[in-house]
Amino acid sequence: MTTVSLTLNGKPVSADVPDNTLLVNFIRETMSLTGTHVGCDTSQCGACVVHVDGESVKSCTMLAAAAEGANVTTIEGIANGDGLHPMQQAFHENHGLQCGFCTPGMVMSAIELVKNKPNPSEAEVREGLEGNICRCTGYHNIVKSVQAGAKMMGE
Ligand code: FES
Ligand code: FES
Repeated sequence: MTTVSLTLNGKPVSADVPDNTLLVNFIRETMSLTGTHVGCDTSQCGACVVHVDGESVKSCTMLAAAAEGANVTTIEGIANGDGLHPMQQAFHENHGLQCGFCTPGMVMSAIELVKNKPNPSEAEVREGLEGNICRCTGYHNIVKSVQAGAKMMGE
């Protein structure tokens, strides 16, 4: 067992977990925040993307112990009270989701993408979301959503 202490969505949390606990399991099972999804066992789908110290990370590729002391943000942590984050709003308005399974990871990856490229072209969005797989859509509306979200984040 190891004690993992970190800041999760702005709140300090601490728990004893087996040494080999993945960050995604720490978030979902230990902390009961189930918005972060597991969509594969090959680190390909991106449904588990969260921000660790402001960077997008596939949380199935990282041990919880490696996030000791870090600032971790999940999809539950980005809205402003009852108001959606602009990127969530953009996905909603532009039909960027169908079943919604991939959406949390898409949104988290998109927010980081826009931080680095405030006005991304379609090609840049497609390249930036390369590590996120959607099994429902043709990506067209997701790309549109990210570009709309980028505009809204800049306003
Ligand atoms: S669950 Fe992490 S990449 Fe698929
Ligand atoms: S909306 Fe269903 S997997 Fe992407």
